[in-house]
Amino acid sequence: MCGIVGFIGKNPEHVLLNGLKRLEYRGYDSAGIAVKSTDKIELFKAKGEIKNLEKVILPIANADIGIGHTRWATHGKPDEINAHPHVSGDKTWAVVHNGIIENYTELKTKLMGFGYGFYSETDTETVAKLLEYYFAKDGDEISAVSKTISAIKGSYALGILKKDKDGIFFAKNKSPLFIAKAGEEIMLASDIICFKGFAEEYYPLTDGIFGYASRGNIVFYDKLGETKIAPVALDLGEYDNLNTYKHFMIKEIFDTKTALKNIIEYYSEKTNYDKLKDFDFSGITRVKFVGCGTAYHACLLGADMFCEKTGIEATAYVASEFRYQKVKLGSDTMVVLVSQSGETADTLAAFELAKESGAYTIAIVNVEYSTLAKRADAYFPIKAGVEIAVASTKAFSAQLSVLNVFAGIFAKKIGSETDPLSDLIKLYETFDYGNLNDFKLLADVLRYNDNLFMIGRGNDYYVAQEASLKIKETSYINSNTYYAGELKHGFLALIDEQTYVITFATDKNVLSKTLCNAEEAKARGGKVILCTCFDLSPSDAENFYYVVRVKELGNSLQAVLNIVPWQIIAYYISINKGLNPDKPRNLAKSVTVE
Ligand code: AGP
Repeated sequence: MCGIVGFIGKNPEHVLLNGLKRLEYRGYDSAGIAVKSTDKIELFKAKGEIKNLEKVILPIANADIGIGHTRWATHGKPDEINAHPHVSGDKTWAVVHNGIIENYTELKTKLMGFGYGFYSETDTETVAKLLEYYFAKDGDEISAVSKTISAIKGSYALGILKKDKDGIFFAKNKSPLFIAKAGEEIMLASDIICFKGFAEEYYPLTDGIFGYASRGNIVFYDKLGETKIAPVALDLGEYDNLNTYKHFMIKEIFDTKTALKNIIEYYSEKTNYDKLKDFDFSGITRVKFVGCGTAYHACLLGADMFCEKTGIEATAYVASEFRYQKVKLGSDTMVVLVSQSGETADTLAAFELAKESGAYTIAIVNVEYSTLAKRADAYFPIKAGVEIAVASTKAFSAQLSVLNVFAGIFAKKIGSETDPLSDLIKLYETFDYGNLNDFKLLADVLRYNDNLFMIGRGNDYYVAQEASLKIKETSYINSNTYYAGELKHGFLALIDEQTYVITFATDKNVLSKTLCNAEEAKARGGKVILCTCFDLSPSDAENFYYVVRVKELGNSLQAVLNIVPWQIIAYYISINKGLNPDKPRNLAKSVTVE
């Protein structure tokens, strides 16, 4: 995904840069701005992070409008040529775009047939040429914008400048875009975090909305003509205050207990607790949990919790696979979509399929103004607060907590007497972050590995998958996860005296078997790091290379206590290797393309 910002007011280049720095979590392989002075548009672009762009920007006399973009490349390699903004052949129009134009090659061929040349490999450049083409035909900007967005298929959030217009055109479909006004000044952004300190309220654009903003005025259109959008209050908290922390990732890990408290408070409120009261779920026979990456790992654990509490069959799916598997969907199915951002394209595509099939759709989401939160039949916020680091940490723990509460609320609806909050309250009372020095020590040992081996059974295996993902995405170590019982069926061949085997063993039903699997690895020279909540005899304890002790919870939210040490260890491995855990290479915080 990419970050878009637009500004109408004094010193636009300064405001645009600040906005892009706030959006850098959305993609950071190149960046650019277009600034309009009296009668021309100046372009500045750079490969890499925003700080490279900052070096090339020159002050522009009489500049009072601009658009900016930070890119996570989809079409065309990350370089200056492909960096946004992109311009029309006559340099009249400049465009920044987040999303994918699925029919851009067909449009590009048509435009080339009309004599238009192209300088980049991007799909976005087609938008700039289309604006030029339609404006040349009927000489009206809004009509040109309307015809352009009608011609393109796919997802877009667009910010558009025209060199002789004192305003910004915008359009939104499937990629997030918001706009705010402060007196005469206007700001357009992909995420409302850009409005912090600028405005107290903002306009959430929905799919199909386009318009024009000029000094102190915003006009919205939909396909029927001019329309109105009600502003909503901006409520961000202190998300961007790093306090004493060096990175957002470690700050957000240590925000976990606050998130748990927020969730308990929120779902103790009767209206929030009763979210399902208007639904008749008597006909539900199947529940499907769908997400990507960390959210998928939450789905694995959430499906297990749901089945345990309700007795209804529940299955987890990777969102990008969900549409292509032979999945039975209908009015007897409930689809629970889990997403921190609520904008992940694969998850939104799964949502559309579920919707079309008549299934109930439930969103377990962090970003409350997101597409998924707005469009699902029922929405359960995870109340984790803004999460900036690409590696999701507090949001994962919050997802598990709300999935547990959701399962409890559903169970209560079908007759259970158990308080849906009881597991979470016990987690909150038991929760601590463990021994930081232990985790720093382990990180220092593990940092030198190219590969890591993680094993577990059942929910321990799911937690191990999430621990592996944290280490992969923040330190680039190839950590892989195997079912403990599967080692002897082939994976043992990978183990030698250099191999660290991280073993998750917190489920007493399979504890002895998991410890035997760890022994199998140890017998082949593997150095076993055991993560457990059980007391070991001194002889057992000295049997392992290291023991990470977590508290025993006695319910399925044990997974939260198990993952936090590995979020912290992943963070320290990353900084020990001199990497930036907040902005891992090749990644972005929310992937709004499929
Ligand atoms: C997790 O650390 C990654 N950033 C990634 O796997 C992420 O969980 C995935 O892209 C899903 O994002 P979402 O929760 O915003 O939908």
